[in-house]
Amino acid sequence: MASTAVGRHGGLILGIESSCDETAAAVVRGGSEVLSNVVASQVALHAAYGGVVPELASREHLRNLVPVVRAAMAQAGIGFDALDAVAVTQGPGLAGALLVGILYAKGLAYGLGKPLVAVNHLEGHIHAVLMETHGLEGESPLLALVVSGGHTHLYLADRAASGTWTYRNVGRTVDDAAGEAYDKVAKLLGLGYPGGPWMDALAAKGDATAVKFNFAAIKSKHEGLRFDFSFSGIKTAVLRYVQNNGMAEGIEVRRRALAEVPDLKAGEGAKYCDRQTLDLIASFQGAVVGNLMRQTFAAAEAFGVGGILVSGGVAANRELRQRFTAEGARRGVQVAFPTVALSTDNAAMIAAAAWPKFMAGEFAPEVMGAQPQLRLG
Ligand code: KG4
Ligand code: ZN
Repeated sequence: MASTAVGRHGGLILGIESSCDETAAAVVRGGSEVLSNVVASQVALHAAYGGVVPELASREHLRNLVPVVRAAMAQAGIGFDALDAVAVTQGPGLAGALLVGILYAKGLAYGLGKPLVAVNHLEGHIHAVLMETHGLEGESPLLALVVSGGHTHLYLADRAASGTWTYRNVGRTVDDAAGEAYDKVAKLLGLGYPGGPWMDALAAKGDATAVKFNFAAIKSKHEGLRFDFSFSGIKTAVLRYVQNNGMAEGIEVRRRALAEVPDLKAGEGAKYCDRQTLDLIASFQGAVVGNLMRQTFAAAEAFGVGGILVSGGVAANRELRQRFTAEGARRGVQVAFPTVALSTDNAAMIAAAAWPKFMAGEFAPEVMGAQPQLRLG
């Protein structure tokens, strides 16, 4: 399949990711061997605002990108000359944030005389699993659930004879992403940002049967067999529960108490929560994970897939990992996750997704720009 000359170091790609609030660079050999994976998180900066502020994100990427790339090269123990290509996230994401990474990557690639590969961030998340999951890449099609702060998508993924991958979307959220619902509900309950890790840690301490949440059937705008999602209804249901049960005052007390200890770890949050709050969190998480499972396994059965890949920030969730793995075992379908470090945004996944494109000679044109709304499949 190789149409591209691979250098004497065996196909070294420098990946660059700046689509949201992590500035990341990584060196990956041959699409799977991670030589370095450096992530500078802006979480602490945005936490004060309870969400990502686009202008601040761009400014921080500008500040962090050069040191992050230098660190990735130093940890990999190679010089720029040893690289075979530079890969960068083209979209989807914040326009200004994406542009910082793209302009830098273009300058570097042209300066070095190396090819530039443009990568879809969502394809990156899928490759975060593929790069570690040997044995599944021969199966076709695979079903990929990408579940993060900005996305909840189901794709059928196929590997072509050229080694490159094609994707068909068979499910997406019609409103909020699952991670967005996690973050909004955590904020509503006076917890820290981002909310996912807080809810994950606290849900384990509550009773998931305490509050019943229902998911309405979704009318899809898209043709064909669909497995779409909706997470704005459950967010509203949590708000209603909070109002009906007079929880507002307790939430305000918690918000103020947590503001006094900004470095508190998510796992230490339980002592700020009463039983009713812990039960609500456990019930919310149980319902969200249950819904993600129902749609994913229904799609897996309908399309007769050879395995399921689950990736994106929410794939770090412990209950999600346990329940998907157990259900997969029950049904005889292999379910694969990235390691937790590769679940959230990183650049190793961008370099890994670039590898088959590099081998097939699919390089970015000189006019390549940021595509904030870029789709996959
Ligand atoms: O993939 P990611 O780092 O960035 C996006 O592309 O969005 O995902 C971030 C999202 C946030 O919504 C965060 O709350 C959620 O992933 N998240 C989690 C967990 N860790 C991160 N959600 C549930 N449980 C977790 N353990
Ligand atoms: Zn992401």
